[in-house]
Amino acid sequence: MNDPLIRLKNIYYKVNESLIIDNVSININQGQPTVIMGKNGAGKTTLLKLLAGIYRPTSGDIDFGKNKKPDIVSFLFQQHIFLDRSVSENLLHALACTKKNDKDMSEQKIKDYLNEFNLTNYHDTHIKKLSTGQKQLISLIRVFLIDSSIFFLDEPFNNLDQYYYSYVKDLLSDLSKTRKIILITHSRDEALYFTNDIISLETGRVV
Ligand SMILES: Nc1ncnc2c1ncn2[C@@H]1O[C@H](COP(=O)(O)OP(=O)(O)OP(=O)(O)O)[C@@H](O)[C@H]1O
Ligand SMILES: [Mg+2]
Repeated sequence: MNDPLIRLKNIYYKVNESLIIDNVSININQGQPTVIMGKNGAGKTTLLKLLAGIYRPTSGDIDFGKNKKPDIVSFLFQQHIFLDRSVSENLLHALACTKKNDKDMSEQKIKDYLNEFNLTNYHDTHIKKLSTGQKQLISLIRVFLIDSSIFFLDEPFNNLDQYYYSYVKDLLSDLSKTRKIILITHSRDEALYFTNDIISLETGRVV
């Protein structure tokens, strides 16, 4: 049996005096996706950010073992975070951070993804002019472009119409064959479509 990808031991996370994550000890295994579920405010986003290293635990250990933690992670934020620039400039900036691609190759990749997502016409559009669902699609393209070994996806299907919902579901299903996916959803059917490795949170505790 493979070593766990990430081990969490007695993780606590406090903001001021409120305890948001309360003594979580779990293993994130390699292979099939891991889904985090739970009610609004249960601590799902906080746990995902702890796993990705965006937050540091107040106490406890997060251990990647023999698996090196990726320097840059593909993280889909629940709330859109963009630069005050065009769609392509936002995507180019993300790729520049990975230092993996030269500018011409990056520009071509961005064009290819926008084309695949039927969003070619928005290449030069200012990000603020997109609808909420379109921003979600650009955020998804950004995580695909970054393409780290682990994808952290906070509610990836938010605000997608039926067409894009199926399209993104298929893309993630394909991706899960070669990358570890850790995703948050409120839909048990969706979770079960991807995996039977489901973590349920309730007021900061695994239940
Ligand atoms: N910066 C913060 N300061 C204070 N409290 C916070 C902060 N961020 C989150 N919390 C609290 O931590 C708890 C967990 O928040 P979190 O965003 O992780 O929940 P969630 O399970 O992702 O919820 P949702 O389904 O609404 O996205 C909530 O009670 C929230 O009010
Ligand atoms: Mg959340």
